[in-house]
Amino acid sequence: MATETSVDYYRTKELKQFDDTKAGVKGLVDAGILNIPKIFVRPAEDLAADELNSNQKTIEVPIIDVSHIGDCIRLFNEQDLELKKELYSRDSAKKVKFLSNFDLYTSKALDWKDTLQLSLLDFDPDPSEMPPVCRKSTMEYIKHLKKLGETLFELLSEALDLQPNHLNSIGCSKGCSIVAHYYPPCPQPELTLGVRKHTDAGILTVLLQNHIGGLQVLHDDQWFDVHPIRGGLVKNVGDLLQVLSNDKFKSVKHRAIANHVGPRISVPCFFSGHASLLDKPFGPIKELLSEANPPRYKEFLLNEYLAKFDDTKAGVKGLLDNGILNIPKFFVRPAEDLAADEPNSGHKNIEVPIIDLSNIGDSIRRQEIVNEIRIASEEWGFFQVINHGIPLSVLDEMIEATRLFNEQDLELKMELYSRDGAKKVIFNSNSDLYTSQSADWRDTLRLTSFESNPDSSDLPPVYREPTMEYNKHINILAETLFELLSEALGLQPDHLSSMGCNKGCSVVSHYYPPCPEPELTLGLRKHADAGIMALLLQNHVTGLQVLHDDQWFDVHPARGGLVVNIGDLLQILSNDKFKSVKHRVTANRVGPRISVVCFFSGHADMLEEPFGTIKELISETNPPRYKEFVLKEYIDKVLSSPIDSKPAIDYYKL
Ligand code: OGA
Ligand code: NI
Repeated sequence: MATETSVDYYRTKELKQFDDTKAGVKGLVDAGILNIPKIFVRPAEDLAADELNSNQKTIEVPIIDVSHIGDCIRLFNEQDLELKKELYSRDSAKKVKFLSNFDLYTSKALDWKDTLQLSLLDFDPDPSEMPPVCRKSTMEYIKHLKKLGETLFELLSEALDLQPNHLNSIGCSKGCSIVAHYYPPCPQPELTLGVRKHTDAGILTVLLQNHIGGLQVLHDDQWFDVHPIRGGLVKNVGDLLQVLSNDKFKSVKHRAIANHVGPRISVPCFFSGHASLLDKPFGPIKELLSEANPPRYKEFLLNEYLAKFDDTKAGVKGLLDNGILNIPKFFVRPAEDLAADEPNSGHKNIEVPIIDLSNIGDSIRRQEIVNEIRIASEEWGFFQVINHGIPLSVLDEMIEATRLFNEQDLELKMELYSRDGAKKVIFNSNSDLYTSQSADWRDTLRLTSFESNPDSSDLPPVYREPTMEYNKHINILAETLFELLSEALGLQPDHLSSMGCNKGCSVVSHYYPPCPEPELTLGLRKHADAGIMALLLQNHVTGLQVLHDDQWFDVHPARGGLVVNIGDLLQILSNDKFKSVKHRVTANRVGPRISVVCFFSGHADMLEEPFGTIKELISETNPPRYKEFVLKEYIDKVLSSPIDSKPAIDYYKL
């Protein structure tokens, strides 16, 4: 445990030291290093797995001959260090900047390269923004690129059997950025790479390279060298063109190896589309679709801001730390939603039920509790429990741990920032950032299926002990609650637990920073929970609301209380006797609001089994209201859709 933390610590320290030199990889080479620093060394398993190679075969990457950019990129990199340092920056707002490794703080191993980035949202850049040594030839190259881009998109349109101007007319040849990479000679090229394996995210890349070589494409599971041809440019299809073409054109993985000789220089130009594409639905070109060729991608929004926001890896809290006054546009809910917003009640006398679990060992009291739970589950789908046996200190420490995690050094948080669903522990802002209509004012740390693999060393250090302790107590309480819920359904007390309902617990910690414009957004959009049951801990800041009789009711935090809510799967199990109710979290000027939600979605063994209403609850007068389905498919559907899209449960209604 301790060693792992210190390894992380030293890596971060080394990354920062390297970054602070502002001299990039070339600075290391200039300093005469013999061994490459550890931060560049690829993981042992990657190195071992990387036997595949093939230099024997020949490959035909189509060549288009155009004019070439001079050796200005070399001049830029080899000029006086002080001049380069002036441009060294990680500020995403800067159009022209120099840096080494965009993902310096988050990658497993760094790439052996330095980069000069010129983001040109159009083709009329201001020459004075360019570094003087490469101003003239860059301007010249940009002029040619503009023409070349248009020609290439005409050819590509025709190759798709579209009108020649099709791709140009939707703005594909716009929004170009130039990235100039400088790969210094590397003393140990077998331990690192020039650029890791990746596909290009944009529409089309046009790449110029000098004579050194190193670019490889993955073709039939083998790496093929793309030999530099004097005066030639490599073009490759990006992910977005693959989407536009409905997979007819392929966005292919490629990489650049590091090399004893050098410098290698490459200048990719990424066409990512006209700004007007960003807020329109983006998907396969309609003219290419037919019954025999249905769309392979659903439409999505290409919002530039989203990507930029996501790149900061700092979440909503990061925006605040930068002192924003207005919330970014992508958090603002659609006008019609804002207008149609159901009024907040809060004046009525009725409240979400609070159920006291003390004296549960007394059989008469237990019967009363079961009855209260039955009524609450039928009428509200939500209730709070108090005197549940978990010490107040355990709850307070869990809230505090969530706060500490979110308020710690940004770099430590960024290491966990990810959208990789396969990872057990991830931090990010808005799991559906790229697919929702508006983003929520919230950052989230998620431990997936935590109880089945509670490996504490995976957890962020500040969060580790309190979470282990909290999780232990929650699993005991969950077992009691599933007994009470079983009884409330008229079943044997162990019915739900023996099916595995009390397993598959994911621990999700939400952090809702104070919001400068709470009326324009939400902390969490209206949704119902897809799992079986959720147990929710919240701090003292109100925000959670449930929809009851078409009105929003606040769930006022009861000190020491926990909120229980019925999920869609329990609604199915109970044949609609228990309700999975819509709820949301408002944004708030005060904060942070903190909540920790434990979602129970069932034992892993249930995944492949048919899932449906409990047989004992079905009768002639109460026929099943859902058809049976495979739980795994259901969960995949839930995970791939925005929070507020059509609930997966609707697909199985009879
Ligand atoms: C959820 C949820 C409410 C809250 O994560 O599904 O409803 O208070 N959270 O954070
Ligand atoms: Ni919820």
